[in-house]
Amino acid sequence: MNTQHYTLVLGASGNLGGKVLQELLKRGEKVAAIVRNREKLHEFEGQIEILEGDFHDDRFLQSAFSQAKALFCTIPDAALGSPETAAERLIPILEASPIQHIVNISNATLKRNGGYTALIRFERALSKLKGIALKHLRCANFFENLNWGIHTPYLPDLRLPYISSYEIAHVAANYLQHKNFDGVSTVELLGERDYSMSELAAHVGISYTQLPYSDENIGFYQPFNEGNFELVTRTDQNTSSPAEERFTLDYFIRHDLKL
Ligand SMILES: NC(=O)c1ccc[n+]([C@@H]2O[C@H](COP(=O)([O-])OP(=O)(O)OC[C@H]3O[C@@H](n4cnc5c(N)ncnc54)[C@H](OP(=O)(O)O)[C@@H]3O)[C@@H](O)[C@H]2O)c1
Repeated sequence: MNTQHYTLVLGASGNLGGKVLQELLKRGEKVAAIVRNREKLHEFEGQIEILEGDFHDDRFLQSAFSQAKALFCTIPDAALGSPETAAERLIPILEASPIQHIVNISNATLKRNGGYTALIRFERALSKLKGIALKHLRCANFFENLNWGIHTPYLPDLRLPYISSYEIAHVAANYLQHKNFDGVSTVELLGERDYSMSELAAHVGISYTQLPYSDENIGFYQPFNEGNFELVTRTDQNTSSPAEERFTLDYFIRHDLKL
């Protein structure tokens, strides 16, 4: 394989992909990033290869993948309407590329309303890939979800696992750098502990108000409130104790919470 090949980051202008990009650069990796509007990555001009294009454009992906040795994959939300179709589209493009290792972002919420969640469906469909090492990271809720609003339709005392996206990015970059995996495997990242919305709001210094459902969000929140979901079971192996300050909830609240 050409040693000049890069590690390619999908979603590099986003919350998690941006942090993976930074982590790879810190490790001295040669990096390329896919972005729909290169302006969003202007601070990285000259440091990385910026590939302007759309995930839904097969020819663009073929070209971007053709110079890659490894891929950080976050499937765009728009493709999650039909995760199997997205995976079936990607598999031949990936198998024809020099990519040898993929880290894919998946979900610690396995089922909702009796069916697999979209990221788990994508995980299962992508796992049919042949000849490329594939590591799925089944991630808990990101602390960043608090930026969607502290007050939500979640029941005040419903406890769910939360994790720092800095921690996920750190784990992803380690796998992409060391390439110490083969076949298809999953890693569960549940963070330090579970939190209820009441507890999270208290950490921010406010009192939680449960909001009514809207037509748009009832399908998401109601199954959680009614216990109609299945999560990865918390164990010692998938529970982390923050190895760095930036992996903590307090750091998120001080630096990244936008209220
Ligand atoms: N939030 C959670 O609790 C949670 C838990 C588990 C897993 N996840 C998963 O984690 C992943 C990353 O989350 P995030 O917070 O980093 O998301 P994010 O900040 O919304 O970033 C999404 C990225 O995808 C890019 N993108 C969207 N559509 C695209 C397209 N058609 N072509 C190319 N790029 C496109 C966006 O680029 P533009 O700048 O061009 O829009 C952006 O860089 C998602 O797959 C999410 O489902 C989230």
